[in-house]
Amino acid sequence: MSRPEKRGHIYEEPRLYDLAFSFRDIPEECDGLLALARAHGVTRPKRVLEIACGPGHHLREFAKRGIGAVGVDLNEAMLAYAKRLTHIDGVSVELRRADMRSFRLAKRVDIAMCLFDSFAHCTTDEDGIAALRSTGAAVRRGGLLLLELTHPADYFDPGHGRTLGHWSQRHPGVVVDARYDTSARDAVAETYRATMTIEAKYADGRRPRKIVGKQLHRMWLRGSVSNIAVRSGAFDVVGWYGDLDAGVPFTMKMDSWRMVVVMRRR
Ligand SMILES: C[S@@+](CC[C@H](N)C(=O)[O-])C[C@H]1O[C@@H](n2cnc3c(N)ncnc32)[C@H](O)[C@@H]1O
Repeated sequence: MSRPEKRGHIYEEPRLYDLAFSFRDIPEECDGLLALARAHGVTRPKRVLEIACGPGHHLREFAKRGIGAVGVDLNEAMLAYAKRLTHIDGVSVELRRADMRSFRLAKRVDIAMCLFDSFAHCTTDEDGIAALRSTGAAVRRGGLLLLELTHPADYFDPGHGRTLGHWSQRHPGVVVDARYDTSARDAVAETYRATMTIEAKYADGRRPRKIVGKQLHRMWLRGSVSNIAVRSGAFDVVGWYGDLDAGVPFTMKMDSWRMVVVMRRR
């Protein structure tokens, strides 16, 4: 397994990270995730797992809907932040510090997910296979794994306009400016360096804050995902979608802006 990177983690600043990425509609995404699961035969999940869960927004939403929720993440600061948010919302989410490539759960789930391209932290085929095997051991037979990955067009044609490299988020008392740059593309290893810059300017005159994080990411493409699924022995790929929406096929059309993979546990 490749060693997790320690330096330059924006995940050490979970609040700033979260302010920068607060543009997602979490209830809508959870509706989409449940619709994808229904389309593949899992109609009433009792328990869901998110690997590399970060702040755990989807997990809290599932918990609010009466579904048991468990999250696994490697970063202590991120987990502490996720825990605070569950207290604020008054919901119960089981949060565990573990590596997605080696964790174990005592009780199996109906659905596992890895969202927001977090699977890109698995930078080699071996990492990906290890994550699929540990997730496979945590999912009941016939259950599902939903992976939300970057649309491959982002790698081949970065100027196509599906995603933004620079955006601002306005919150009460703070404006957050965020930049996402890529460099050091390695076409052999299928990796690249992602640089995330987040700047916060506060209305109360506090000193602005700027954090810069660099991470190695894997460019997971359709072929490499299919390959690790087969080699894992744990899952079969049963669907490809262009969004967290069962009505959006995975294509080169502009409404297809993510690569969402549905895998069924063998
Ligand atoms: C981009 S954040 C995404 C958080 C969450 N999936 C979401 O949709 O909001 C990626 C998360 O992956 C976690 N992570 C990175 N490598 C990991 C690993 N090997 N095992 C578990 N978590 C990991 C980081 O700590 C971080 O919280």
